[in-house]
Amino acid sequence: MFVFLGLKVERLGADDGPELDALLVRCADFIRLTEGREPAAGDGLLLLDERPEAAPDVEKLVLGLYDGPCLIGVMDLLKDYPAAGVWQLGLMLIEPERRRSGIGASLLGALEDWIAGQGGRSLRLGVVEQNAAGHRFWAREGFRDIGTVEQDLGPFRRTVLRMERALPI
Ligand SMILES: CC(C)(COP(=O)(O)OP(=O)(O)OC[C@H]1O[C@@H](n2cnc3c(N)ncnc32)[C@H](O)[C@@H]1OP(=O)(O)O)[C@@H](O)C(=O)NCCC(=O)NCCS
Repeated sequence: MFVFLGLKVERLGADDGPELDALLVRCADFIRLTEGREPAAGDGLLLLDERPEAAPDVEKLVLGLYDGPCLIGVMDLLKDYPAAGVWQLGLMLIEPERRRSGIGASLLGALEDWIAGQGGRSLRLGVVEQNAAGHRFWAREGFRDIGTVEQDLGPFRRTVLRMERALPI
């Protein structure tokens, strides 16, 4: 789909479930922080399939970030949800050893250009309250707080800070 800093972003499908599972195991820190549990086999397929109950037909894209043949990150997008031109970034996750070297900021820039090219006008996301470093990252990238939502994941309850940013035209 697009290339930046010599890394490639490609759309993932059901065949990529096991590779996604392995990435999520390497990112267990994030699953613990945001869901209060350990990663489990099948999480990759879940990520590929799950979508809001209210939007069974919304187009979902799960994108893999590759360094050569290695999957080093993943993003999850809903197109035109909840309104035309609004894209929802459900997840942006890079494996721990590759964080803090500028990949995330460059990836976001390239992703936003790509989404704008598809007709997107703004990008929304949610960051779990406990994820202070994540919130700092988005705030630094120009996202503004637009509200909070309480979520109940069985035994794990969380407050999600919702953020939004207009895309370059
Ligand atoms: C958020 C993330 C995609 C940014 O990618 P990155 O390549 O680390 O980003 P950059 O190098 O461009 O910027 C680094 C900043 O990211 C932020 N960050 C967010 N989560 C982080 C994490 N778990 N580890 C390290 N840095 C993180 C920090 O603010 C850091 O800045 P700092 O070093 O001044 O504290 C990546 O750190 C990540 O995958 N984090 C875990 C998942 C996550 O929190 N995703 C966002 C919520 S959906």
